[in-house]
Amino acid sequence: MPALVLLGAQWGDEGKGKATDLLGGSVDYVVRYQGGNNAGHTVVVGDQTYALHLLPSGILSPECTPVIGNGVVVDPSVLLSELSGLNERGVDTSKLLLSGNAHIITPYNVTMDKVAERFLGKRKIGTTGRGIGPTYADKINRVGIRVQDLYDESILTQKVEAALDFKNQLLAKVYNRRAIAVDQVVEELLGYADKLAPYVADTVLVLNEALEADKVVLFEGGQGTLLDIDHGTYPFVTSSNPTAGGACTGAGVGPTKISRVIGILKAYTTRVGSGPFPTELLDEDGEALRRIGGERGVTTGRDRRCGWFDAVIARYATRVNGLTDFFLTKLDVLTGWEQIPVCTAYEIDGRRVSELPYSQTDFHHAKPVYEMLPGWSEDITKAKTFTDLPKNAQDYVKALEEMSGAPISAIGVGPGRDETIQINSFL
Ligand code: GDP
Ligand code: IMO
Ligand code: MG
Repeated sequence: MPALVLLGAQWGDEGKGKATDLLGGSVDYVVRYQGGNNAGHTVVVGDQTYALHLLPSGILSPECTPVIGNGVVVDPSVLLSELSGLNERGVDTSKLLLSGNAHIITPYNVTMDKVAERFLGKRKIGTTGRGIGPTYADKINRVGIRVQDLYDESILTQKVEAALDFKNQLLAKVYNRRAIAVDQVVEELLGYADKLAPYVADTVLVLNEALEADKVVLFEGGQGTLLDIDHGTYPFVTSSNPTAGGACTGAGVGPTKISRVIGILKAYTTRVGSGPFPTELLDEDGEALRRIGGERGVTTGRDRRCGWFDAVIARYATRVNGLTDFFLTKLDVLTGWEQIPVCTAYEIDGRRVSELPYSQTDFHHAKPVYEMLPGWSEDITKAKTFTDLPKNAQDYVKALEEMSGAPISAIGVGPGRDETIQINSFL
């Protein structure tokens, strides 16, 4: 029963889509377990580029069954348009399974996300505006709408009423916005019911039976460790658990079933939205990383903030996820720098610390302590084995591995499926 979790080790956009797609051909199920269409996963197959938001990246491998687990929040209009977009490009999506327990991002949740951010002003989180936070808030407040509610009009109407009762007061009295009509929301949601029906399943049962039958299941995280609601840089985080434990709750699979946890780690660091970022570069090096790495958001089109590799964060990701392996991505982007700084510790108010501080105040004050590693100028995009890499690139990888606390089992040297050096097998 090999069950693998593949997740972001930093602030998202590490290259999870590419890594998942790479494994897609050899796994039976790929499961999204948290988040929603705040994710943007780019997969390059030959001359085709796919941008996936809600669908697991395994959708591009015909032999693989893609699953949207109970822990995901689903915007039905986005799901249906993503499906039809793929169908138009010849991708068969008929095997998709959607948990009946997944919560629905309703139109009022999207509205609430946008107005709440506006209300926060300069204290805003910089959310993707997709309704993620308000939908998870409704789930926790027990006024959420689930996929299964689409199939009982009376229950759906009662639940939408309950959810809007309070929200309409808030919209009108606090945010100065027009109230949202229950009937309109119910009508819109019912309109999705038949279209989604072929996919709705008891995904917990399906996945546990698959594991019993020795099938290979891959859990694909959205976002990243530092965006985790519990373990990330709160409050500048998303509203779910991208960390490894989230795979258990978000898919209904016990922790004893998980055999491998792979952290996707970019060879430098990026972040989208607000919040502390110790190695952030506001100079021409940051601009160069953004340009060479194509660091522009897939979901919102925002420029990503860029900085050098931060080993303190990598070690933290190893710890909170119990990582067994790293997949180091975008090493090719660092080609051309004479020396590459790597953050090994922080200086916080005169103290040197080598682990991520638990205090938000300390993290805001953290200044990176850099070690300089020699760079390389050779093109590495054609490298197929570790020894094909120039010596300094090999040493850079070995140094990162040493600092990060888990073996680097694969290295990305370009966006394509075949632009990968596999060191240890993941299966
Ligand atoms: P995700 O959200 O973690 O799936 O990552 P994104 O797709 O948002 O961002 C990663 C970007 O890097 C995408 O444009 C990928 O095509 C690209 N990418 C992934 N791995 C590599 C790599 O090893 N080298 C290069 N140059 N690009 C890569
Ligand atoms: P992938 O899966 C990078 C960030 C947003 C914001 C914060 C909260 O592509 O790695 P939300 O809309 O989730 O409430 O926003 O989280 N964020 C991401 N940043 N990659 C992502 O997904 C992200 N999903 C959310 O920018 O700072
Ligand atoms: Mg992304």
